[in-house]
Amino acid sequence: MEKLQTKYLGLTLSSPLIVSSSLLTSTAGQLKEAEDSGAGAVVLKSLFEEQITSQVHSLSSAHEYPEAADYIANYVRSNSVDNYLDLIRKAKKNLKIPVIPSVNCYTAEGWTGFARKMEDAGADALEVNVFFLPVDRKKTSAESEKLYLDLIEKLRRSITIPISLKIGFRFSNILYMIDQFYMRGVAGVVMFNRFFEPDIDINKMEIIPASVFSKEFERRYVLRWIAMASAQDVKIDISASTGVKSGQDAVKYLLAGANTVQVCSVLYEKGISYIRTMNEQILKWMKTKEFDSVDVFRGMLNYMNYDMPAVYERTQFMKHFSTYE
Ligand SMILES: Cc1cc2nc3c(=O)[nH]c(=O)nc-3n(C[C@H](O)[C@H](O)[C@H](O)COP(=O)(O)O)c2cc1C
Repeated sequence: MEKLQTKYLGLTLSSPLIVSSSLLTSTAGQLKEAEDSGAGAVVLKSLFEEQITSQVHSLSSAHEYPEAADYIANYVRSNSVDNYLDLIRKAKKNLKIPVIPSVNCYTAEGWTGFARKMEDAGADALEVNVFFLPVDRKKTSAESEKLYLDLIEKLRRSITIPISLKIGFRFSNILYMIDQFYMRGVAGVVMFNRFFEPDIDINKMEIIPASVFSKEFERRYVLRWIAMASAQDVKIDISASTGVKSGQDAVKYLLAGANTVQVCSVLYEKGISYIRTMNEQILKWMKTKEFDSVDVFRGMLNYMNYDMPAVYERTQFMKHFSTYE
């Protein structure tokens, strides 16, 4: 397995495959199964800023007395956080692979304090999933972007462990943003988060969640940006996320320049132990290509190393689509 060894956020991983943040990483038993199946690291389910707030609201609305509501609010907040810190401590005790907790947030207020507690509980790094939706038409994109930068600066002052940012791909200029993250001390970016999207049930006349699990075709939104970002003169690590269904899919992201590859939906479909099969698939492919380590082929087909970088650019649109009648 040494052939799969990978560096990510300054940590040494035995495989580039990481079990990404979800309910699959919410118990000590699942985390152990991930390690036993050959995962290089685990990202714990996210602690949500909204989750804490809504628990506080729903419980407090059941109470008539403001003092009781305050008490309950504090209890719920500390209990959620305490359970989470417990999970980190347990994971650190039981596992040899890096343990990366995750926070899903949309502001820098009210949670950076317990980021330090996660660090104290033994977290090897922190993944921050910023789910900020720009729904105010009077706010400029620069204002939305500033939210990310302020958040990082505040967090960077609170903790010393590496920070990775799980981002979406809907920035006007992703490469500029990654540059800005790097300059503020972010060690890695997860490309990309797969946000909750709404769908409409036309019979029930209701809004329903669009597919919870990813499909293979979604990799088409990711590959170019990994190939571009990994070709920049910026020493930020990249963890690919979305649409990985096999070891072969992971190889594609590694060739595009990712340091690690996160997996989620396929493990819901096939079980956490499928990581073992995926590692074997990567090793088998490496053997056919005579690659002795992941480092040898990482980024081999990115924007800088590929001998026809234009395939990643706009001109391909004209070439490719003009051949269809
Ligand atoms: C059921 C479910 C729960 C998830 N929960 C989280 C979460 O708590 N935090 C997070 O950052 N991402 C969460 N995700 C997103 C995944 O970590 C991952 O980024 C996304 O599913 C794309 O990867 P995939 O194509 O391998 O599924 C969740 C995904 C699923 C399907």
